[in-house]
Amino acid sequence: MAHDDGGGPAAGPGTPILEIRDLVKHFPLTRGVLFRKQVGAVKAVDGVSFDLHQGETLGIVGESGCGKSTVARLLVGLERPTSGQIRYRGEDISTLSARALRAVRRNIQMVFQDPYTSLNPRMTVGDIIGEPYEIHPEAAPKRDRRRKVQELLEVVGLNPEFIHRYPHQFSGGQRQRIGIARGLALRPEIIVADEPVSALDVSVQAQVVNLLEELQREFALSYVFIAHDLSVVRHISDRVAVMYLGRLAETGTQEQIYDHPTHPYTQALLSAVPVPDPDARTHRDRILLAGDVPSPANPPSGCRFRTRCWKARQLCTDVVPPLDVPEEFRGTASPAGHASACHFAEERHVVPSE
Ligand SMILES: Nc1ncnc2c1ncn2[C@@H]1O[C@H](COP(=O)(O)OP(=O)(O)OP(=O)(O)O)[C@@H](O)[C@H]1O
Ligand code: SF4
Ligand SMILES: [Mg+2]
Repeated sequence: MAHDDGGGPAAGPGTPILEIRDLVKHFPLTRGVLFRKQVGAVKAVDGVSFDLHQGETLGIVGESGCGKSTVARLLVGLERPTSGQIRYRGEDISTLSARALRAVRRNIQMVFQDPYTSLNPRMTVGDIIGEPYEIHPEAAPKRDRRRKVQELLEVVGLNPEFIHRYPHQFSGGQRQRIGIARGLALRPEIIVADEPVSALDVSVQAQVVNLLEELQREFALSYVFIAHDLSVVRHISDRVAVMYLGRLAETGTQEQIYDHPTHPYTQALLSAVPVPDPDARTHRDRILLAGDVPSPANPPSGCRFRTRCWKARQLCTDVVPPLDVPEEFRGTASPAGHASACHFAEERHVVPSE
């Protein structure tokens, strides 16, 4: 299948396809029925910045409630940001009119977490995969749609004859393939996959991840791949962003994050990743996180991780640590020289490298 360009100026080499700057999404907390009064806000996303380059996979990882799905929904235009920028090929799409945004959204599609609930049980697979053509009729003339849907079924490894079946006639893995086919229907450049394998059996997860990797090569896709577990994104990600309570804690290449983490939160997450080799397991440094994630309606001052951090000092309460390369590593080739939002960032080897 040819990749038809959805338009827009071509990004030069090295220009990110997506640039996210200071992205904020606050959901108002209201009280009262008749006179709804805002009494606060859930700071679901609170100043997130990152780039996505053409053809790369950025993994976003963090515990439940840290704002991953909200970031995903902002990127694909399902939510409007409170403030901040989402630049697609250099153009800020967060302030576009609904009509202009619709055209851009063809190029940024989402694959949802739960294939059991995200597919309408009353629609045939053909109608589900072809639904994006109803919203963007210019993408495929009516007479071509059936053929296109059958091609998409084939591309995701399903029998094109299944076009008249219903979601309940498929397994979880097959349903996620249907969700992926729908995400591909408009030939997007970017796919935001929000925990695409979290609801699947471990044995099926690898198959779906492999499919996503094959599709990336075939269609030159760029991925934002979200997971709550660092082990899931390890092999698919070129770069990884670790998220905590609405902010990014640490970003770096796959190797930097897994082998040279400098943020205590990343180190704690990594130490909890299952290690299959029993020998390696005995050598790992297990960090048990104390306490729960604080409420995003009332996040701690300074460093948001300080209520659970074993290294916290007064500075962590008083000053927000910027997401930056630690000073001692700036300009060096050290793998620890990547962005970490910690006043006392330092390497700690938590798991034996592969
Ligand atoms: N529409 C909304 N209105 C109010 N609060 C919301 C809304 N959507 C999300 N939130 C809140 O924002 C925070 C972040 O939610 P989000 O779904 O983005 O987290 P997540 O990292 O995807 O979590 P999970 O791993 O459970 O999917 C949570 O506290 C959630 O309750
Ligand atoms: S800034 Fe302080 S509280 Fe935050 S992660 Fe670093 S040491 Fe811990
Ligand atoms: Mg989520």
